[in-house]
Amino acid sequence: MDEQKPDACPVGGSEADLSSGFDMFDADYNANPGPIWKEMRETCPFSRTEERGGFWVTTTYEDAQALVRRVPELSNRQVSVVDMPEDTDLTADYHTRAFPPITMDPPENIPLRRLLLPFFTPKAVETYRPHTEALCNELIDGFIDKGACDAAVDYAQQITPRVISRILGVDPNQSDEFVGWVRGLIELGFDNPEMRAENHKHLVIFFSEQLELRRENPTDDLISLLANQTVNGEPIADKTIVKMCVLTLAAGIDTTWSSIGSSMLHFATHPEDRRRLVREPELFATAIEEMLRLHAPVSVGRVAMEDVEHNDATIKRGDRLVINFPAANRDPAVFDNPDEAILDRERNRHIAFGIGVHRCAGSNLARMEMEVALKTWFERIPEFELTDPDAVTWAAGQVRGARNVPVRF
Ligand code: HEM
Repeated sequence: MDEQKPDACPVGGSEADLSSGFDMFDADYNANPGPIWKEMRETCPFSRTEERGGFWVTTTYEDAQALVRRVPELSNRQVSVVDMPEDTDLTADYHTRAFPPITMDPPENIPLRRLLLPFFTPKAVETYRPHTEALCNELIDGFIDKGACDAAVDYAQQITPRVISRILGVDPNQSDEFVGWVRGLIELGFDNPEMRAENHKHLVIFFSEQLELRRENPTDDLISLLANQTVNGEPIADKTIVKMCVLTLAAGIDTTWSSIGSSMLHFATHPEDRRRLVREPELFATAIEEMLRLHAPVSVGRVAMEDVEHNDATIKRGDRLVINFPAANRDPAVFDNPDEAILDRERNRHIAFGIGVHRCAGSNLARMEMEVALKTWFERIPEFELTDPDAVTWAAGQVRGARNVPVRF
């Protein structure tokens, strides 16, 4: 065993209780995960925790890169480290899994993934920009005269559901409902199976009805496209289409909302960075990449379909893992001063959007939404600050992001 690793480091396939105690729900962890990742990286970079049902967790860039490529033995069938509704049986048919194509492995995921990509190319995303700009301005109009707002609740949270609603072709006025269902499924329901099941049911019923409507009156939206596609000459099963829509809505809402919220918190608490961005707006592009690196929201789950050796550890069949992209993005082996925001960081090969066969399908959209949200805010409200640090809250679990950011301006 490496000298530096404490007894609790589970190398050598030891059967002992080797919990690192890592808990994605711990409030202190979520408020400031950097020191915890640093300590784990220095003492036991690939460790197990017995929290939340038990799973392995990575902290280095190298391990994240290596393990995400171990496909299909480390499978996406359980992309959440806690059970998703309808997702507990490892041998179940792919099409009954929770969120195709993210909960499928190659080659079956490929044709379904291909169907989503045309809606998220750089060219397609540019067509959503004017609407996103108008939306951000409209939201700011709603609170600018008050001199205060919650930059997460009144701004970040309002943007992403409305943009993804338009792409799916569903009513953006139902955004609050969508946010409630998605939070109930992914965030608030993370360790509450009943809440997860309930919200999953709402989403499935909603998209089943939408699918029926599109069959009667097709349009050019994503649901209509999916309704009329075939894979290997066969129409896609309705339940698969519905679950692809659930994935698109959930992935479209939760992630970028988190990134915008965390970025707003950063600039509300770092006046030197805020003023620099106002003075040097040409830095927006690198600043957004830096926010994505430093406050990457998404950690992904995997499940071992067979025993897998990694470094000195044996990941046993059925074991779960969290590939911690946010921690990889703070690895000092790859990034200088990894816990600092460097707005003009030149070399920034962050992996906030993942890598490999499941790399984020919506990364162009996420970048556009972040750019429009931040630029529009900075143009209209260049000076702002956090009013109450104690009122800041974080989404915990596999999607981390600031959920309350009260500011005055
Ligand atoms: C800052 C915002 C975002 C981040 C950090 C992010 C991150 C990620 C990551 C890490 C993955 C890989 C999952 C895995 O390896 O299992 C992923 C997949 C995915 N993301 Fe995003 N995402 C963001 C925004 C979006 C948006 C706006 C959409 C739009 C719908 C989206 C749709 C998807 C889809 C459909 C997948 C699954 C792709 C597949 O399995 O082929 N994401 N995302």
